[in-house]
Amino acid sequence: MENIKDSTRKKDACGQGGLELAKTMESADWMEQVRNLNVEHTLRTGKVRTFRLDVFGCQMNERDAETIAGMLTNMGYEQVAPDAPADIIVFVTCCVRENAEERVYGHIGGLTRECEERGSIIVASGCMMQQPHVLEKLKKSYRHVKIVFGTHNIHEFPRLLYQHLTSGKRVFEIWEKEGRVIEDMPIKRSERHKAFVNIIYGCNNFCTYCIVPYVRGRERSRRKEDILEEIRALAADGCREITLLGQNVNSYGNDLGEKDLFARLLYDIETIDGIDRVRFTTSHPKDLSDSLIRAMKECEKVCEHLHLPFQAGSNRVLQRMNRKYTREHYLALVDRIREAVPDIALTTDIIVGFPGETEEDFEQTLDLVRKVQFDAAFMFIYSPRKGTPAEKWEQTESQETISNRFKRLVELQTEIATGLAKRYEGRTVEVLVDGLSKTNPEMLSGRTRTNKLVNFRANGNLTGRLVDVEIIRAGAFWLEGKEGAGRG
Ligand code: SAH
Ligand code: SF4
Ligand code: F3S
Repeated sequence: MENIKDSTRKKDACGQGGLELAKTMESADWMEQVRNLNVEHTLRTGKVRTFRLDVFGCQMNERDAETIAGMLTNMGYEQVAPDAPADIIVFVTCCVRENAEERVYGHIGGLTRECEERGSIIVASGCMMQQPHVLEKLKKSYRHVKIVFGTHNIHEFPRLLYQHLTSGKRVFEIWEKEGRVIEDMPIKRSERHKAFVNIIYGCNNFCTYCIVPYVRGRERSRRKEDILEEIRALAADGCREITLLGQNVNSYGNDLGEKDLFARLLYDIETIDGIDRVRFTTSHPKDLSDSLIRAMKECEKVCEHLHLPFQAGSNRVLQRMNRKYTREHYLALVDRIREAVPDIALTTDIIVGFPGETEEDFEQTLDLVRKVQFDAAFMFIYSPRKGTPAEKWEQTESQETISNRFKRLVELQTEIATGLAKRYEGRTVEVLVDGLSKTNPEMLSGRTRTNKLVNFRANGNLTGRLVDVEIIRAGAFWLEGKEGAGRG
């Protein structure tokens, strides 16, 4: 096996982690070092080195990928399409369920030829890397993975890359614990008209099935001023929609000793010219406050959509999941939200087959789905995750029973979503245009304020524009329409 330069798992790599904010001088210095190496390479060979990204998981990873792309661009690399050959292939990985991990191994394994024939190198990052057994497996069985970093030390990538380029050795470095919030990293945004903006990192909730708190660390909020500065800069650059990100955005500010800071942040964003739409994800039902509901009602830019995962409809299961709310609390919360914002679209996450879930428990999930009438739901079969409490709990039902329940849930939800979508037929809705439709390149596609996907026929390139679209047909997952009057 090749030599691995540094495989220490640093316990707390920056001393007192947490609140202190850091500028990234050090990172910038290493970027300059790599840039110099690349200038030499280009002078010598006439070629510019390239990279491509392979991103798994949630929006946090998509946002992290933009930082990684930003650093690589700053270091002189050119981004190529996801299917084009590249000198560096960066994986941003997810471990929330087993199939996400398996897909990553599959993709990495499929690159052997490209690495051998072209000399490409693989960089592996993201949530999976925070797990020691994953590092062992990559070290042993995936020799083209040359650089590894985790979720807490993304800003160290330039130094690790420099070390690899100058020594040829494999460089694996992970921080076990979160460090300071790092500001001012370069970002290469994947789109101009809409953007993800982190507001809080990590999670303190420890739902018993979930790996996220172990791989993303404890909650750390960004300072409100830093967030607003980023959004003002985005607006100046033509961005019209922002999505505020956190595992639980409702906890924003708690670690800064501030109450209700999330609602205040929404009021502040409301005053930023150029931004037309504000979204946020994810909200935890136990923390969604009345002040937030009021802000959603009063702030015109906040879209009429709320993603509010309930996970399970039975109180017994919710308690075993450590969700800290009951179905009654959830239903009352939905009533209060709908009273404040009558047209709101609600979406959710649901887990089927949690250890100990009985038929009766599952029926409570179906019942809650019927009662709430979600516009959309992400539905998952429970997947045991190493190191979580539920991993050790006995699965009382057969895989067949669980798949059956999953199927019943999907059928019910699809029927509900189809029915709800019909209310759009004949209506004219505001769409923020994302570009050509992925399924039909003769059409454009975009999203309503309620986050419904709309495909529609129109003339010209309207990407990034707000357009009125008349809906002709409505299905569970998309609407079809034709352009009305353009609005700018
Ligand atoms: N922070 C968000 C979502 C995190 S993960 C929240 O709290 O809502 C996204 C979704 O994946 C979760 O809402 C949950 O439904 C699902 N999920 C998480 N761990 C899982 C597991 N072990 N098995 C199946 N689904 C899981
Ligand atoms: Fe996971 Fe629960 Fe935290 Fe969401 S709130 S990230 S489901 S532990
Ligand atoms: Fe996956 Fe990490 Fe997000 S585990 S769901 S990418 S926080």
